[in-house]
Amino acid sequence: MTLHKITIAAFSVLSIAFHSQNKKQMARLIQNEFEFAEKQYKFLLKTVPQDKMPQSYKDGKLITKDISWWYSGFYPGSLWMIYEQTKNPEIKKEAERTLELIEPNKTFTRDHDLGFMMFCSFGNAYRITKDPKYKDIILTSAESLSTRFRSGMQAILSWDKMADFKSPVIIDNMMNLEMLNWASQNGGNKKLSEIAVAHANTTMKNHFRPDYSSYHVIDYDVNTGEVLGKKTFQGYSDSSAWARGQGWALYGFTMMYRFTKDEKYLIQAQHIANFILNNPTLPKDKIPYWDFNDPKIPNVPKDASAAGIIASALLELGQYSKGNEKKNYVDSAKQMLISLSSEKYQAKVGENGGFLLMHSTGGLPLNSEIDVPLIYADYYFLEALKRYKDWYL
Ligand code: GLY
Repeated sequence: MTLHKITIAAFSVLSIAFHSQNKKQMARLIQNEFEFAEKQYKFLLKTVPQDKMPQSYKDGKLITKDISWWYSGFYPGSLWMIYEQTKNPEIKKEAERTLELIEPNKTFTRDHDLGFMMFCSFGNAYRITKDPKYKDIILTSAESLSTRFRSGMQAILSWDKMADFKSPVIIDNMMNLEMLNWASQNGGNKKLSEIAVAHANTTMKNHFRPDYSSYHVIDYDVNTGEVLGKKTFQGYSDSSAWARGQGWALYGFTMMYRFTKDEKYLIQAQHIANFILNNPTLPKDKIPYWDFNDPKIPNVPKDASAAGIIASALLELGQYSKGNEKKNYVDSAKQMLISLSSEKYQAKVGENGGFLLMHSTGGLPLNSEIDVPLIYADYYFLEALKRYKDWYL
């Protein structure tokens, strides 16, 4: 063997050893995280009132909401994901109890949030148990959501009336398309996926700036589809990139590619990922500040929920990408998971009201949920851990 060949062989052995060591570390981290989640949610479930859903924790108090609040699917969904990894019967019992509680949401049509409410919950339950009653509930929920599609604007109306908006569609709404696509491919009406495609196309046309950052709210004329305004509701300004909104956009277009295999959604998702990952305000630990354009960065709150959503989406995008791009998406998501698992973001057992993560921001301009735990931050963090385990270990 020449010296050159020996050197290449030695590098290959070192690289295999490095990757397998890396994988072992991530496997250990993920296992530890689910064990932690099991303990923490056993603590949380004892404090949740029987008719409410946990939302956050502030000043030593658990904050809860009624079942029609958009968060209602995340608690059962998180429980199902924890149960899937730990098989803890107490966690399963609580997951089943809370599904029963939110089932009446299946005919809810007052806003667009039904995908969050019913697919994050019943979607996970069906994936894990294959119980047909869960599938029926998802199909009914998808039909309910489809009633909010407005053909004049070729989009699902997010809110009926909110602030000064006439017919607002928010970037968050991309997430609800997952339930429509899934229902359509699993015994539901074909029109459900047609609605999802129409909504995604309208969003792609109107919601993005040339740098692929997303506006939060597009206000439409419901009859003609004319764009009346490009605004924000939860971001720093109309022209800023609200961090969680960028996460919803990334996740939404990646998911659209999963169901349709239409390349334009993949390319859109890659552009959005590049906007996020190349943003000069993204810190080294890769947990974004609440808005990429807040001029007071770094002296502003972070948003761990945005990191969880982005990590989960990047891991899926990594499945559809190659070479350096794939590596960048997966390595960035991994860094986010490592950061979120550190004591900087993660609570100790029995603290933080039972939530896993600290430091999320719900609505800073609304003076609401600033630097607090939020149930959906936990949900997407758990989903990202599961995705890493399923796809990259
Ligand atoms: N969907 C509402 C939010 O992201 O705060």
